[in-house]
Amino acid sequence: MERTDKTYSGAPRKLRSQEWWDNPDNPGMTALYMERYLNFGLTREEIQSGKPIIGIAQTGSDLSPCNRHHLDLAKRTREAIRAAGGVCFEFPMHPIQETGKRPTAALDRNLAYLGLVELLYGYPIDGVVLTTGCDKTTPACLMAAATVNIPAIVLSGGPMLDGYYRGQELIGSGTAIWQARKDMSAGKIDENTFLEIAAASAPSVGHCNTMGTASSMNSMAEALGMSLPGCAMIPAPYRERGQMAYETGLRIVEMVNEDLRPSDIMTREAFENAIRIVTALGASSNCVWHLIAIARHMGVELTVDDWQTYGEGVPLVVNMQPAGKYLGEAFHKAGGVPPVMRDLLEHGKLNGGAMTVTGKPVADNIASAENFNTEIITPFDKPMMKEAGYAVLRGNFFDTAVMKISVIGPEFRKKYLSRPGKENIMDARAIVFEGSEDYHDRINDPSLNIDENCMLFIRGTGPLGWPGSAEVVNMQPPDALIKAGIEELPVAGDGRQSGTSGSPSILHISPESAAGGGLALMQTGDMIRLDLNTRTLDLMIDDAEMQRRQDAYQQKLVESQTPWQEIFRDHTGQLETGMVLENAVKYQRISQTRGLP
Ligand code: FES
Ligand code: MG
Repeated sequence: MERTDKTYSGAPRKLRSQEWWDNPDNPGMTALYMERYLNFGLTREEIQSGKPIIGIAQTGSDLSPCNRHHLDLAKRTREAIRAAGGVCFEFPMHPIQETGKRPTAALDRNLAYLGLVELLYGYPIDGVVLTTGCDKTTPACLMAAATVNIPAIVLSGGPMLDGYYRGQELIGSGTAIWQARKDMSAGKIDENTFLEIAAASAPSVGHCNTMGTASSMNSMAEALGMSLPGCAMIPAPYRERGQMAYETGLRIVEMVNEDLRPSDIMTREAFENAIRIVTALGASSNCVWHLIAIARHMGVELTVDDWQTYGEGVPLVVNMQPAGKYLGEAFHKAGGVPPVMRDLLEHGKLNGGAMTVTGKPVADNIASAENFNTEIITPFDKPMMKEAGYAVLRGNFFDTAVMKISVIGPEFRKKYLSRPGKENIMDARAIVFEGSEDYHDRINDPSLNIDENCMLFIRGTGPLGWPGSAEVVNMQPPDALIKAGIEELPVAGDGRQSGTSGSPSILHISPESAAGGGLALMQTGDMIRLDLNTRTLDLMIDDAEMQRRQDAYQQKLVESQTPWQEIFRDHTGQLETGMVLENAVKYQRISQTRGLP
């Protein structure tokens, strides 16, 4: 295994924490670095004898309820780190709560990333437990681990228990809310019922219990080999979750002793595995840009087209909302991610040799994985849906966009994409909204004449436009159409949508309108053509008209409201390339500190 950044050689090697605490050339600095870590009761022996110093990057807090459970789990992890001969330093990360942060939690992924890079680089930490959960916490942690490249392991907090409403109906977080929103528009339920359903969808500690972005990203971490097998889907309150926290703590100490680093694990093969596995899970469209971001910080080449290439031929096997029926508890009881991986491996869709945090290749980890319920984890050969990947669309007014195929249901195909002679092709009249406020203000405006031959577009919702890129593309039709039984219209935009949404939307149009993308030139009433055969989405106006609009175009950006928003906009790229801080990408494998006095 080639490691270009290996700092030490020979055994026992001197750990990086000893750079702080064992520096014969500068006893003064050693004393200064050490004394403040003694003042809460650690002894010199503990920190100077070369024990691995293990950080717990704590994402839980009152501000981030999806991850709050990690405050408890960390106690189990600490005990394990101790038992394995390490010393534990738990420290807080910048919180990222999907349902709390304005204007969007996505804005803070890169901020949390930056903060964690500084902590891992600048403090005496030999290895780290990454406490993941809510959507953006997982990529933020993995991106930082990739950049610094010290031994790192993911411990997810686990999904909430399955939600129930009125004793029977399965209520999935997020997914239930999108449906209840439609039911309220159709006049089927009142606001009080809407709020009851929302509360029922969040029945315990943990993150979203659907295959939303949180379950998707934690499964993706497992698929990458960055967590212990089976970690992703254990519900937060289950006993196995605490046991997993303990096992993870034991393992990170061994990983430091073995010098097993993210660069050994997050290889190109691992990223290909991740794409295939999350495709089989029907995972969130947010996985696409997050995975590209992690790969870029790891120095592994990965493009949006790889999603189409490696997702191709992989069926949807996991029957979980929003693409299917069940929730996290059921998936866990059926076996979780390992049997899905095993089935893929047996069908030649997994690189079995990819290294993992266990110190063994993935094929070894999953060799005995069992599927306990084939209704929930359907077999590869008899899957829920045959083609389930992510289509990468191109068009004459943008470079790339992404569409999650597993949520294009038969209803949608029948209604929009199956006219004789024009299978998979749809011509529609565009209705264009300038962001979500404009959408809410005008969606029910009768003068727009929205009918089932329309496609709704939203712009100003990308990384620069929002800023941070908003989960607002899954727009519902006007109330009148919903009442008439049309619950879905084709939608597209330069923003994103929640992983819990089952809407067959065209997302992440890059470049976004605020970055001068052609979406900025579209006008309500324009005709557009979606052709899923050629995977294209085109604006049907001639070049001269396009040019006339281009000449008249003036960029409009909402003002930044915080310093970080301005910094983010100055340095962040498009969703197509992971929405990363572009000037951060060149800092790779920086575990060796420099400049210690
Ligand atoms: Fe935090 Fe879904 S809102 S996991
Ligand atoms: Mg979300």
